[in-house]
Amino acid sequence: MDAATMVYGVMGHPVGHSRSPVMLNAAFQAAGLNACYLAFDVTTPEKVPDAMRTLGICGMSVTIPHKVAIMDVLDGVDPMALAIGAVNTITRKADGRLVGSNTDCAGAIAALESAGPVAGKKVAILGAGGAARAVAFGVQNAGGIPVIVNRTIAKGEALANALGSAFVPLAGFTGDGTDILVNTTSVGMAPDTDASPVPKTCLSSHMTVMDIIYTPRTTRLLSDAAALGCKVVDGLEMFIRQGALQFENWTKKSAPIDVMREAACKTL
Ligand code: ATR
Repeated sequence: MDAATMVYGVMGHPVGHSRSPVMLNAAFQAAGLNACYLAFDVTTPEKVPDAMRTLGICGMSVTIPHKVAIMDVLDGVDPMALAIGAVNTITRKADGRLVGSNTDCAGAIAALESAGPVAGKKVAILGAGGAARAVAFGVQNAGGIPVIVNRTIAKGEALANALGSAFVPLAGFTGDGTDILVNTTSVGMAPDTDASPVPKTCLSSHMTVMDIIYTPRTTRLLSDAAALGCKVVDGLEMFIRQGALQFENWTKKSAPIDVMREAACKTL
């Protein structure tokens, strides 16, 4: 590192558990870039754009709880991030403008498409929070047919209405007609690793099943699905893909995915 080193980072609160620094620094190194990636514990997100301009920070990942609040203080937000209502990436453009985008969305689709195409497929999305919104808009943008499945009816219907898609209450979900199932709820996350958001009877062998949880990497849902012969995609793959898209936004180079996967796996 020297006076020319380009600085990137992640802002969140808390941020000490973030796996992004290990993954992005490995990517910068593999690509031979004079760049580094740091973690910033931030409680005043509105001050971050000025800090980036003052210090010449080139790009920033945005994580919980700042993905919504940051939108108001950027110079621009791209249309997909506006539709989702959340930004996870800030990029400093050549003219100095700080622009927000959302790579969770395309990252989820890239992870899913590692198992097969999404276009034309009926995709049941369990949950209706921020992560469900990013996955659902991504599915629709990729030509898939999202179906929102949620425990709380009003919240599920609100997301389904925003998409113009169908809604099914979680209690009435059977899996019938589903090609791809994506869990965006926290059910099954450590320490509650015996739990699954749906019973095994909702799964069948022709489905692709993805969980966005990556602690543990193989959730109960994914082990149930794998036992039935489903294709499975774990949450680490989505995490890697959203990070790879950030790398590509910032550097305009293709991301060293295998290096990033190896680095991310080592953090688990
Ligand atoms: P995020 O922004 O990370 O997606 P969130 O906004 O808290 O997180 O959303 C969590 C989602 O998981 C919600 O859809 C929630 O369902 P409700 O709308 O009914 O609250 C869902 N969820 C969380 N715990 C759940 C549980 N035990 N069973 C079913 N769904 C659950």
